[in-house]
Amino acid sequence: MKRDFVAIPDFDRDEIINLFDLAQELKAKVKKREEHHLLKGQALAMIFQKPSNRTRVSFEVGMYQLGGHGLYLGPAEIGLGKRESTADVARVLARYCDGIMARVFGHDIVTDLAKYADIPVINGLSDLLHPCQILGDMLTILEHKGRYSELTISYMGDGNNVANSWINLASILPVKLQLGIPQGFDPDEHILKSAKSKGMSDIEIIRDPVQAVQSADVVYTDVWASMGQEEESEKRKTLFRPFAVSGELIANAKSDCIVMHCLPAHRGDEITDEIMDGKHSVVFDQAENRLHIQKAILVKLMGNQ
Ligand code: CP
Ligand code: NVA
Repeated sequence: MKRDFVAIPDFDRDEIINLFDLAQELKAKVKKREEHHLLKGQALAMIFQKPSNRTRVSFEVGMYQLGGHGLYLGPAEIGLGKRESTADVARVLARYCDGIMARVFGHDIVTDLAKYADIPVINGLSDLLHPCQILGDMLTILEHKGRYSELTISYMGDGNNVANSWINLASILPVKLQLGIPQGFDPDEHILKSAKSKGMSDIEIIRDPVQAVQSADVVYTDVWASMGQEEESEKRKTLFRPFAVSGELIANAKSDCIVMHCLPAHRGDEITDEIMDGKHSVVFDQAENRLHIQKAILVKLMGNQ
């Protein structure tokens, strides 16, 4: 039976830990330039309703390194739900390809693709979730901190798709998640309630930014206005300003904290240049690890591993 990766809880704890191991194995092979054609001859349809640098390039290069092919299908080609229904797009792509990765607006679009395609579907970001990002980020934390538990992670800013996926991960791996989020921009209430009910992690929304970064091992931020919310940018800037990741703010975190951003960054807004380019920043390691974790996900779903 085919499996999808639409949300982090689609994998259990052991599977997630195995993905970190596989990603590190594949990363080592890339560094040694060792061939690893685990998906030889396979094709991944990559549907994009929104722009992308990291997701598009890492999936396309990842498929190439695995001996397969990634096929970019932008809004002009597919016209998802306009030129053709999502269900029909899914059924047709499943006749040509071995997997689908989709970056979409409404989360229902990626769940519909998963429902109607009898090949694995991977969520490459929806308005609700960004699961590949957060698995790659935890791999980066593991590399820098040597562990994925007993860590205080402070997420600063908007309760968006990235925040929701952090909460999902906290329902499976034990962390202390301090969400520094201004009133009115909370994460999805069902995701939060469900994660809290699992009792795996201590998850708290904190309105005071200084308190939210207190004793953090990891300080994480994302844009204040996500793709599709551009018209709210100016209004959000005023409300989010106190949550900006600056030298002054991270003085409250642990002295050896790492600073993370899923990118693209709006330097001078949610993160200062000083911090983004400074000694705490691991943002480009994070970007690189998208490649390695997604290759592990592709192999798990498409390679009968
Ligand atoms: N972080 C991330 O998903 O980047 P892109 O939007 O460039 O793909
Ligand atoms: N929250 C951001 C993430 C970009 C990778 C967005 O959805 O635009």
